[in-house]
Amino acid sequence: MKVYITYRIPEAGLKKLEGKCDVSLNEEDELLSKGELSDRVTDADALICLLGDRIDRDIINAGRKLRVISNFAVGYNNIDVDYATRQGIMVTNTPGVLTDTTADLTWALIMAVARRTVEGDSFMRSGKFSGWKPELMLGSDIHGSTLGIIGFGRIGQAVARRASGFNMQVLYCSSKPVSREAALASRATYVELDTLLSRSDFVTLHVPLTDSTYHLIDENKLFLMKPTACLINTSRGPVVDERALVKSLHERKIAGAALDVYENEPALSPGLTELSNVVLTPHVGSATHQTRNRMSEMVAENVVAVLSGENPPNLVNKELLRQKPAQA
Ligand code: DGY
Repeated sequence: MKVYITYRIPEAGLKKLEGKCDVSLNEEDELLSKGELSDRVTDADALICLLGDRIDRDIINAGRKLRVISNFAVGYNNIDVDYATRQGIMVTNTPGVLTDTTADLTWALIMAVARRTVEGDSFMRSGKFSGWKPELMLGSDIHGSTLGIIGFGRIGQAVARRASGFNMQVLYCSSKPVSREAALASRATYVELDTLLSRSDFVTLHVPLTDSTYHLIDENKLFLMKPTACLINTSRGPVVDERALVKSLHERKIAGAALDVYENEPALSPGLTELSNVVLTPHVGSATHQTRNRMSEMVAENVVAVLSGENPPNLVNKELLRQKPAQA
């Protein structure tokens, strides 16, 4: 069975495939173009891909033998899942393992933007520090402030749990309120989106990218935020209208932003890098040795299961679950 991997993944996953499949890998340090991907997938039974690979109808049609598309990410907005399902191709992802890691990075960003640590680091390196001053580089308190979490799945709830150490009020909104137990565990209160935006000091995004979350945070929504508030995004870039965000930061309609994801990744909207009130990281929400190794194992386990005729542990298109034959 042939497996094609669109970019080098941590060794832990490659080891799981060893001796079980015939593996080919893109060894270049760049993502494949559409043409290259389409050529390389032609004889593959399984494809392991990254969130930067657009797996659209053309690629799925080119992969005539494909049985599984194993995404090295929890989000799968890069894959035309409906079309894959109609072709009977299983799509898998890597949920759960990156929840806490992504919540940790969200907190790193909240702290960085609130206390201006990145700005402070540049200030020091450029030799501008001439001694302690009462109003040098003032930031905002995190403790005792209000955290607004948009999207309250696994990662949103993990972010909320971390807020209790800071004695924060936690508001959340999501398509529907979570169970009483889940809300109690994270000490979070359900509110409507507009209320959350107007009351929070830190607004953090944890929704998947879908048609209904595209540009969820646009100029009008940014306008509802407090001028002292900061926006944090570790979900998907297109959830925020990035041009509107740049305008709003430039005009100090909001105090700051910390972004790990971008609307047209890897490109950045004009003006973003010139702003001092923004912290930027290169889509590293799940980037720890432990988590990326585990993600690598998971993509391999999903492939091996499908190619052995089993249900994969992390199937996205559940319509394709294979029923176990009834016992005689
Ligand atoms: C995911 O898994 O969707 C993350 O964005 C990768 O870090």
